[in-house]
Amino acid sequence: MALLEIRNLSVSFETTAGRFFAVQGLDVSVDEGEVLAVVGESGSGKSVAMLAVMGLLPDTATVSADAMRFEGRDLLGMTPRQRRALSGRDMAMIFQEPVASLNPCFTVGFQIVETLKRHTKLSGSARRARALELLTAVGIPEPERRYASYPHQMSGGQCQRAMIAIAMACSPKLLIADEPTTALDVTIQKQILDLLLNLQTESGMALVLITHDMGVVAETADRVIVQYQGRKMEEADALTLFEAPRHPYTRALLSALPENAVGGRLPTVAVGDWGVRT
Ligand SMILES: Nc1ncnc2c1ncn2[C@@H]1O[C@H](COP(=O)(O)OP(=O)(O)OP(=O)(O)O)[C@@H](O)[C@H]1O
Ligand SMILES: [Mg+2]
Repeated sequence: MALLEIRNLSVSFETTAGRFFAVQGLDVSVDEGEVLAVVGESGSGKSVAMLAVMGLLPDTATVSADAMRFEGRDLLGMTPRQRRALSGRDMAMIFQEPVASLNPCFTVGFQIVETLKRHTKLSGSARRARALELLTAVGIPEPERRYASYPHQMSGGQCQRAMIAIAMACSPKLLIADEPTTALDVTIQKQILDLLLNLQTESGMALVLITHDMGVVAETADRVIVQYQGRKMEEADALTLFEAPRHPYTRALLSALPENAVGGRLPTVAVGDWGVRT
């Protein structure tokens, strides 16, 4: 049984110009412990699809699916309360903008402890100890001091590490990372990505990594989904995708990579008809 199983997911928004489908007919399945990359250009519905999985879309979104299951449990049939209990515990998400995703009004330690309070039965002192352990695990120096820091007192990279600490607090089985490094300096990007992958390997959790960077995909993913205009264009294990991309849009994405990015394995392609139905 897949950890996450989504069949025929559609998400639409009512706009002044009519109904707009941000995601249409998307099938996604994630196995335990695997790294799935979701790639596609800006606006292709990567974030919206995963926010639908987390139950974090605004009320203006209409979500429908033939199936949406986590560990066999029907997500769409859950009450908001059941859904909240799952999000942040068994499945967690980190976002593109680390500083904006943390609450500016509370210390980093408080925000980790709040997550533990909501989802675990740990005592106050055990929560604090776990928070310090998490800050250490995500490579934040002087965790005792950072525990009492507010987000604005930390760098972008440290804030993203803190976000990861919050997401990892309850040892999720599935972590969705939505372009977790885009807002960071290039050198920090690599560190954060390495941290995520180390945590993934150590914990055995499944990781869905949304990115537009095919270089990152080549380095990290077991399997790749390519999205375009809300639809899945192609799905393959990472090596197959790089060696024999089937879809012209995938080839176009790959051709945008520097030639040596994946050891010179990239085919040279022409961008033709993308075969997209609109
Ligand atoms: N709350 C919303 N209301 C209306 N439209 C929305 C809303 N959220 C997203 N959309 C639209 O849905 C489409 C998909 O957006 P989404 O954020 O999923 O793209 P994305 O693939 O994550 O892009 P990026 O790479 O830029 O993050 C876009 O056209 C976007 O404008
Ligand atoms: Mg996005």
